[in-house]
Amino acid sequence: MSDLLVTDAFLVTNDPSRGEGPWGVIPDGAVHIADGRVAWVGPSSDVSLGVKESVETIDAGGAAVLPGFVDPHTHLVFAGDRAEEFARRMAGASYTEIMAAGGGIMSTVRATRAATTDDLYRQSRARAERMIAAGTTTVEIKSGYGLDVATERRMLEVVRRLDDDLPWDVVPTFLGAHVVPPEYADDRDGYLRLIETEMLPACAPLARFCDVFCDDGAFTVVEARRIVAAATRHGLRPKLHAEQLAATGAADLAAEIGAVSADHLDHVTADQARRLAAARTVAVLLPGAALSMRTPPPPVGLLRDAGVTIALATDCNPGTSYWETMPAMIALAVLNFGMSVEEAVWSATRGGALALALGDRGRLTPGDIGDLVVLDADHPAHLAYRPDSPLVRTVVKAGRVVAGR
Ligand code: NIG
Ligand code: FE
Repeated sequence: MSDLLVTDAFLVTNDPSRGEGPWGVIPDGAVHIADGRVAWVGPSSDVSLGVKESVETIDAGGAAVLPGFVDPHTHLVFAGDRAEEFARRMAGASYTEIMAAGGGIMSTVRATRAATTDDLYRQSRARAERMIAAGTTTVEIKSGYGLDVATERRMLEVVRRLDDDLPWDVVPTFLGAHVVPPEYADDRDGYLRLIETEMLPACAPLARFCDVFCDDGAFTVVEARRIVAAATRHGLRPKLHAEQLAATGAADLAAEIGAVSADHLDHVTADQARRLAAARTVAVLLPGAALSMRTPPPPVGLLRDAGVTIALATDCNPGTSYWETMPAMIALAVLNFGMSVEEAVWSATRGGALALALGDRGRLTPGDIGDLVVLDADHPAHLAYRPDSPLVRTVVKAGRVVAGR
């Protein structure tokens, strides 16, 4: 926790009451962070002299300053990689065929079970450090590559260490229902009972949300409803992987149970979009997964027209989306998903916060957490316009510079 003053910024507050447009832009803006929280925002000319003299100051020199990125969907903790499987997919093999043949998610499960906890931590930490350097100040991380009680629990312990040791906030999600592991292939009900009677009691104390991969080759809507009910009894709030590989009705379930978010939504319909909007379920879109799976964009227009809140995330995982940074997601959302720059930047900041039910971030309103990024550019459009330039110059977490200069 420390004090910081940033001046002379093209300041995106995401608070329309503080500046222009949906971004709430203050063109020559300043932000004062005290005790880790935003204390004041306004024009640089209004910064009081007392503040200017007493705290560490960053003169942004006209550069764009935005709230820190919030990445609300990652599978960051895993061992090994699947480069060879990726090459096979790019040569024509299908993801579901690979999964049905025991590869895909299960090959990462085998590597993760075999890794020591320290090794899992070391491999995951390298990715985490790259994320932070690119401006991610809050991240969600799922379990789901253990699929047995001990390894699911170990994954969540690694998640907790990444939260304790690194300058960001980590939101842990239990994803024991990622796929049914082969030892339960003939006894799906047995795996569901394992989740209900052993995994949730062991894992829920280390998690905030419960996610289910509700899709072809994973869990059905009926199974997902049962898992979510059990998780709710353990105090976890629901999220769902929905409508990614096939249209299954998972988005309807998300709306029915008031899920905090429904993620992927490649196959979402207009009706479902209306239900998600009514349930205030956030749509988390994953442009890295769509590109790395070579699948068409989700129907963003349907979601937008229905008034669904949209967030962006990396989905960082070794199978379908080995992407790590939010600036890349902003670029892909604009260039590939047809989102405007304004939408994409909002969705990567405030949208991500809402997808994690965290009201105090993704925005620079007094009282919010003092997380921000300073770009090497005078407008956030550069993030999509120059997509392969590393444009995050400085990363600030709770008022402290944690990456860059
Ligand atoms: O979000 N869809 C399920 N889970 C991941 C993929 C995980 C994997 O292939 O390892 C996803 O795309
Ligand atoms: Fe995912």
